[in-house]
Amino acid sequence: MGSPESGMQRNGSGARSGDGYMATALPPTSIKLRDDSNDLPEEQAFYRDVVQGLECRPRSLPSRYFYDDRGSELFQAITELEEYYPAACEREILSGQSGTIAEYLGDDFGLIELGPGDGHKSYHLLEALLSRKASFRYYPVDISAGIIPPLQQNLAGLDQLQFHGLVGDYEAGLQYLNGRERRHVVLFLGSSIGNFSMDESADFLRRLRMSLHAKDLLLIGFDLVKDPSILIPAYSDCAGITRQFNLNLLLRMNRELNADFDPDHFLHHAAFNPRNHAMESYLISLKEQTVSLQDPISCLQSSFTLGCFEAVQTETSQKYTEADIKDLASRSGFRIEANFQDSRGYFTDSLWIADDR
Ligand code: AVJ
Repeated sequence: MGSPESGMQRNGSGARSGDGYMATALPPTSIKLRDDSNDLPEEQAFYRDVVQGLECRPRSLPSRYFYDDRGSELFQAITELEEYYPAACEREILSGQSGTIAEYLGDDFGLIELGPGDGHKSYHLLEALLSRKASFRYYPVDISAGIIPPLQQNLAGLDQLQFHGLVGDYEAGLQYLNGRERRHVVLFLGSSIGNFSMDESADFLRRLRMSLHAKDLLLIGFDLVKDPSILIPAYSDCAGITRQFNLNLLLRMNRELNADFDPDHFLHHAAFNPRNHAMESYLISLKEQTVSLQDPISCLQSSFTLGCFEAVQTETSQKYTEADIKDLASRSGFRIEANFQDSRGYFTDSLWIADDR
């Protein structure tokens, strides 16, 4: 069997090439979960969240909107940067320790991956499980339908894999599986949890715990606190990819919210907050400027005047101590079963077991 690097399109462009991928039908092995929330359409929620963040002082923009097509492509490029160690560390963990992890996971379960990306993170683990002849079904869950076809293509080399793509939010995915699988193993890799504050993380994990049975497992990635001289370049690489990733949020607002941001008038800035162990990313306004945007549905307009050197925070990337991880696990109804770290001790994939209560 080929290595994931040879068998996969690492830049995620495979089935997404051309602009038509949104129209790509889901593979027959995938289903779209019914969205019974009475939420706003996505583009209107974008407007609402942006306006809310820009009205606040200090101002912010929500990081969940980084990931349009271009943003996902840039994030993929970030994971291949020398400076962005978290991706390399997790690759090292999963390529080196998947055999051991697979032993912990056992046999006969539904494997649910929240936010699978292009599959390169989980490839080794899936391969290890298959080579142990474990019987399991793989359910990647993503809010964006465009993720599923290239993911399935990237995993096509794993020919025994029972692939069931689910399009919907994480909660809908877990709910769907509850009646169908006796035992669950959830993958939440890449330190995706890091965009939540500690309290938001505990809430999210508590809700996740409620949709699991006692003894179900969760393998979750955490980026550990380390020397700021390693952290800061990871979020301000010298090729400027992270800068483009951050500025892309402005381009997305220009396109989808009819906004008039000039990216040349903003500076990308990444800083470490040593009090709460968070990397913080900002866009700093390089002059006093008024920007306007428009609700794509009602066409209502809003405008904001940013001061010279006023900072708009676009992201928080939380870093964790071992005590933080223990604390999060116990606050949300889990126990730590094992920790899998890279050789530098920069990152951990932590295996949690759902407590009985
Ligand atoms: C996808 C949230 C884990 O915070 O490290 C990478 C996103 N932002 N570079 C992170 C990100 C800037 C990443 N996560």
